[in-house]
Amino acid sequence: MTAMPQMVGLLNGLGGAASALVAIAEFYRLLGEGTVPLSAVSTAILGSLIGGVTFTGSAIAFAKLQGLITGKPVSLPGQQIINIILFVCFIVGSGLLLINPLNTTAFLGITAIALVLGLFLVLPIGGGDMPVVISLLNSLSGLAASAAGFVVMNNVLIIAGALVGASGLILTEIMCKGMNRSLPNVLFSAFGGAATGGGSAAADAGDKSIHQIDAEEGAMMLGYARSVVIVPGYGMAVAQAQHSVRELADQLTKKGVDVKYAIHPVAGRMPGHMNVLLAEANVSYSQLHDMDDINPEFERTDVALVIGANDVVNPDAKTDPGSPIYGMPILEVDKAKNTIVIKRSMQPGYAGIDNNLFYRDKTMMYFGSAKEAVAQLVSEIKQL
Ligand code: TAP
Repeated sequence: MTAMPQMVGLLNGLGGAASALVAIAEFYRLLGEGTVPLSAVSTAILGSLIGGVTFTGSAIAFAKLQGLITGKPVSLPGQQIINIILFVCFIVGSGLLLINPLNTTAFLGITAIALVLGLFLVLPIGGGDMPVVISLLNSLSGLAASAAGFVVMNNVLIIAGALVGASGLILTEIMCKGMNRSLPNVLFSAFGGAATGGGSAAADAGDKSIHQIDAEEGAMMLGYARSVVIVPGYGMAVAQAQHSVRELADQLTKKGVDVKYAIHPVAGRMPGHMNVLLAEANVSYSQLHDMDDINPEFERTDVALVIGANDVVNPDAKTDPGSPIYGMPILEVDKAKNTIVIKRSMQPGYAGIDNNLFYRDKTMMYFGSAKEAVAQLVSEIKQL
């Protein structure tokens, strides 16, 4: 599950490559017959552009997420100008091909330009923005399939590709909203450059102090609360703690505690990651609340229980303009009367930055791997 984004990236790339190959094969088939109709030339141009950009763009996204190359933005001096020149060359090459459809040099030239454009468009984008890029490339792979459908005159491919293209665009928009970013902002600025995708930077805790609790204290706080909001994150996914989390919620509900789950749109490593895991553990959908619904409720919440989440609850996103995640909407657990954070150490999350939440007076750190830590809470609560 945690490697799903790069897997999706790889599959998008293969879809793009397949579409570009179909366009190239069809072009050469018609060339062999001696005539390439204008409609076939236009769809071949479209197929090679979208397919080529999707293939190399996705390959770079995969390599960044897999840690094969740096997650930081990489760009040449004057990158935007180079991209514009390449695009103009693509248009000129396409014009030459439309004038003389037998001009194979022009066709190979524009295909090569499309491949290079894919590299140059994705290399300057930082690791933190990769989820958005992956869903955009997913949408492009759909459009590439649709273009391939036009090339081989296959209605099913055209419609299926259009569906993937449209749903990918909707998903891209949802994710941009979740990170409070616009698409041009993602594509043309270097947000998330510090992120490596592995959260390898060490937390700069300095001399700030934390409040640490154990399972018994955590169980007392939770068991005697009136309302608890559970905030799951990537750590719950890695630890596969969703079943223990549901058991904990069941125990608390039995004791008369009002339990809700708060779901951040980019918690975990893929869209809907938390929803999928909690559904797998049979958590009722009515207990899951979106960020906009639950945020006003934190002030009235006795305990916010953060399980393996970090960036999505980092108050710096609201208060520190220097923070790489500044502007990203967060789950405002800092407003709850008390917050318990379950994680293994003081290590940062995906964005590689320290989290001020952990040093606040109302925040209790309960260290441990999510599954075991939650299981211990459950057994302590049973004894209350
Ligand atoms: P993160 O900020 O990545 O933090 C996860 C935390 O889980 C870490 O601080 C880690 O701390 C802890 N953890 C790891 N293994 C654990 C375990 N076995 N038990 C308990 N805790 C564990 O997670 P988040 O708050 O869910 O935020 C998601 C981040 O990923 C955002 O920055 C988002 O932009 C990015 N992202 C999202 C997506 C999508 S689409 N959802 C895709 C790619 C990237 P310890 O090491 O100390 O335990």
